[in-house]
Amino acid sequence: MERPVLILGGTGDARLLVEQLTQAGHRDVRLSLAGATRAPTLPDRGSVRIGGFGGAQGLADYLIGEQIALLIDATHPYAAQITAHAHAAAQHTKLPLLRLNRPPWAPHTDDHWISATDHLQAASLMPSHARRIFLSIGRKEVAAYANCADRWFLIRSIEPPDPDTTPARHRWISARGPFDMAAETMLMRAQQIDCLVTKNSGGKATYGKIAAARTLGLPVVMIARPAEPQADAHAETVADALAWVARQLRSSA
Ligand SMILES: NC(=O)c1ccc[n+]([C@@H]2O[C@H](COP(=O)([O-])OP(=O)(O)OC[C@H]3O[C@@H](n4cnc5c(N)ncnc54)[C@H](OP(=O)(O)O)[C@@H]3O)[C@@H](O)[C@H]2O)c1
Repeated sequence: MERPVLILGGTGDARLLVEQLTQAGHRDVRLSLAGATRAPTLPDRGSVRIGGFGGAQGLADYLIGEQIALLIDATHPYAAQITAHAHAAAQHTKLPLLRLNRPPWAPHTDDHWISATDHLQAASLMPSHARRIFLSIGRKEVAAYANCADRWFLIRSIEPPDPDTTPARHRWISARGPFDMAAETMLMRAQQIDCLVTKNSGGKATYGKIAAARTLGLPVVMIARPAEPQADAHAETVADALAWVARQLRSSA
């Protein structure tokens, strides 16, 4: 019997990987989602489980109980906790772990990026002239900007932010990527945005806002990626992840 491949997801690449592994003939490919989004975009193939495992030990128990053959951490670059848990659980169970992580975006010469180590620092580094901020960071960390009383925020996320910790002056829009440059430029112009705050997610799907900020000459406060444990195996693309799975299964056959 073929043992399952578990993919920790929440990204487009994870979804793509599930579809492509299934298409390649793997019979038990499982996508794991945190359950943070009420109506997540699901893969066309493979199976999906939803919800946390109960920490690194819970994940290790799942890996053993379900006789998982390979673990792939294809979570978002800023989902630091689950990545740490995946690393610890793989070490504990001695299971092969691949970290699939898109490379970060790099600034062009005509970009004006301001680097911040975290959201509290980002809130303090927004240029003083900037009054209308496009906060494109998801919903979880919006509270870090709650004390910026002299600014107005355009907040974009799939689910609504917590109303108790949202900056007083804001507009929330619900939207799910991909976002292209033309639409992002139109949005930023229409909302008279004068600064963008964003994570460095990498990939094409959400690059439009970066290109739009460049076109409009706007400063970008870029939150640095969190540090993560060094995985034994690392892939930047779905194709590389597919090749890793093939190699692992060949060597264990
Ligand atoms: N952070 C972002 O900016 C961002 C952006 C886009 C998508 N996402 C996706 O959204 C999900 C949650 O992100 P986060 O930043 O809240 O994560 P996180 O802080 O790293 O993880 C918090 C907890 O959520 C559970 N969890 C996270 N990802 C999971 C998964 N794929 N399958 C099962 N349980 C998972 C785990 O619970 P237990 O400890 O109980 O196992 C984990 O300890 C991730 O899957 C991530 O890929 C995150």
